[in-house]
Amino acid sequence: MTKGIVLYKSKYGASKWYADKIASNCGFESKDIKQTKISDIKDYDVIVFCGSVYASGISYRKFLNKNYDKIKDKTIILFFIGASPYDEKTFQKVIHDNFRSEILSLPIFYGRGKWDLDKMSFIHRTLCKMLMKMVAKKDSDTIEPWEQALMETQGKSCDWTDEKYIQPIIEYVSKLK
Ligand SMILES: Cc1cc2nc3c(=O)[nH]c(=O)nc-3n(C[C@H](O)[C@H](O)[C@H](O)COP(=O)(O)O)c2cc1C
Repeated sequence: MTKGIVLYKSKYGASKWYADKIASNCGFESKDIKQTKISDIKDYDVIVFCGSVYASGISYRKFLNKNYDKIKDKTIILFFIGASPYDEKTFQKVIHDNFRSEILSLPIFYGRGKWDLDKMSFIHRTLCKMLMKMVAKKDSDTIEPWEQALMETQGKSCDWTDEKYIQPIIEYVSKLK
């Protein structure tokens, strides 16, 4: 039987929520990447990475770029989330900016996360409020999809998490078995 693990990095819980859903649907374990050493994952056949975008940086990029050569013989699946609705141009830019070229040929999936200014750290809340003020002054045709999503929240909490975003992963994994 395929032995799999979902490694997640989550600041406010959305990536962890997806990681646990992927794990329970696929019969895998899930584990916080911050408590994971490369030796902990050597016995798994499938590794799913699950994290979020912060200022265009994917939360698990450092771990994956650094350790890819040690795990490249395994089946690796990437999933990341953001506030932005899916946009092909942004998706391509984010993955190209975050990952080494060999990693780009892996299966990569995207879903939407959560947004709650009240629950953010002081630094994140300040950053986001500053960004919203800057975006309000931009020409509408230069606003990025995630900036648009931010403005549409109007400072209120939003939860776009949905199990539909992990269906392609569950399907992909089911074909491995
Ligand atoms: C400071 C900050 C920067 C963010 N940058 C982006 C971004 O560049 N693109 C995007 O789509 N979402 C962005 N987001 C939204 C997060 O990806 C989203 O809130 C996600 O659900 C967080 O997941 P986590 O709770 O698992 O860390 C940002 C959120 C914060 C607080």
